[in-house]
Amino acid sequence: MARFPSGVAIVTAHDQQGRPHGFTASSLCSLSLDPPLLLVCLATSARCYPVFARSPQFAVSMLRDEHEHTELARRFAGKSPDKFAGGGFVPTPHGGTVVAGALAVVECAVRRRVGAGDHVIILGEAEHVALPEPGGRPAVYVDRGFGSLCDADLARSDTPRGPTP
Ligand SMILES: Cc1cc2nc3c(=O)[nH]c(=O)nc-3n(C[C@H](O)[C@H](O)[C@H](O)COP(=O)(O)O)c2cc1C
Repeated sequence: MARFPSGVAIVTAHDQQGRPHGFTASSLCSLSLDPPLLLVCLATSARCYPVFARSPQFAVSMLRDEHEHTELARRFAGKSPDKFAGGGFVPTPHGGTVVAGALAVVECAVRRRVGAGDHVIILGEAEHVALPEPGGRPAVYVDRGFGSLCDADLARSDTPRGPTP
């Protein structure tokens, strides 16, 4: 799977005291257009798992291929006791805590959790989407390293595009 490139996101949720928790995720996947569902997988061994096991909401911040964002991805994949202390987050009007300058933000209501091996699949319905301009380029994770897309023609009008949930 390390050879399969993916985007990178930070997924956040709040505990019952209102404190944010989060983890770096590459297991993000769009799932359904109607209703608009996505999924993310979280290891049950993660320290933040108990928070995601209870929280009725979570937020996905898709990261750019910029140094600040790849540093955030490293921080949120690590074991720092307070991952949010280094900054880089902003509150949303809907009660979420998301990455400042994210490529896109999707705030979700949890619809289902499905245990699968040592992970849980969390299905969320998109309730609020923020697509700041300019779009920028996504961070890419492949071969256990961060990179970026080098295809300058990504926005070409003749590029076939799939549905965009
Ligand atoms: C690029 C990248 C993607 C990751 N994707 C996932 C993921 O999709 N699901 C997961 O459970 N852990 C994933 N991880 C590992 C978690 O981010 C890491 O275990 C994190 O420390 C868990 O948070 P914790 O401090 O609550 O244990 C990923 C790590 C990296 C570097």
